Amino acid sequence: MGDLLVKLYDLPDTQPTMASVAAAGFVIKRPMSPERRFVVDWVAEHFSQRWASEVEMAFSGHPITCFVALDAESRLAGFACYDTSFRGFFGPTGVIESSRGQGVGTALLLRALKAMEDAGYAYAVIGYSGANEYYQKTVGAIPIEGSEPGPYRGWIQG
Ligand SMILES: CC(C)(COP(=O)(O)OP(=O)(O)OC[C@H]1O[C@@H](n2cnc3c(N)ncnc32)[C@H](O)[C@@H]1OP(=O)(O)O)[C@@H](O)C(=O)NCCC(=O)NCCS
Repeated sequence: MGDLLVKLYDLPDTQPTMASVAAAGFVIKRPMSPERRFVVDWVAEHFSQRWASEVEMAFSGHPITCFVALDAESRLAGFACYDTSFRGFFGPTGVIESSRGQGVGTALLLRALKAMEDAGYAYAVIGYSGANEYYQKTVGAIPIEGSEPGPYRGWIQG
């Protein structure tokens, strides 16, 4: 569960993923502050309190450093944040089980990494990755040697 590095100046073309996710009925958008409580509670319910805490951080300033995926009924299907635990970090991210395998996670990843590039970062760190193969395949992420447990060491056991 170490950290990974992503070259933001060498991201893949987002268009094919965005088009297929849109064709499947999903909308990727940056949420607004009136939606904060919905997103935080949903992440706590479907993922974890730690991730919900990071989403709170994403909503603590402007621009909100989070993207969400909505299904055809405008229900939450996934989320991806950046600049939450640490500046320059991507994550947390998750897609509800019933919506996985349709490109939603990759669309959220690419949208958030593009936002990080637009914010002036050259590299993103994917913190405490539990999906190295996925990130290697989608955005060419490479492991950062000796980064486990990295900056998360010594955290409070809940
Ligand atoms: C990782 C996650 C966000 C991907 O969402 P998704 O919408 O299913 O992603 P996509 O549809 O864009 O891509 C699916 C592909 O990623 C692969 N993948 C998903 N999770 C993976 C993992 N942990 N390790 C390796 N590959 C993984 C799938 O096997 C699939 O591969 P395929 O395209 O060859 O069939 C989702 O599986 C999830 O929420 N997982 C639980 C939370 C999590 O692990 N978050 C990341 C922590 S760093």
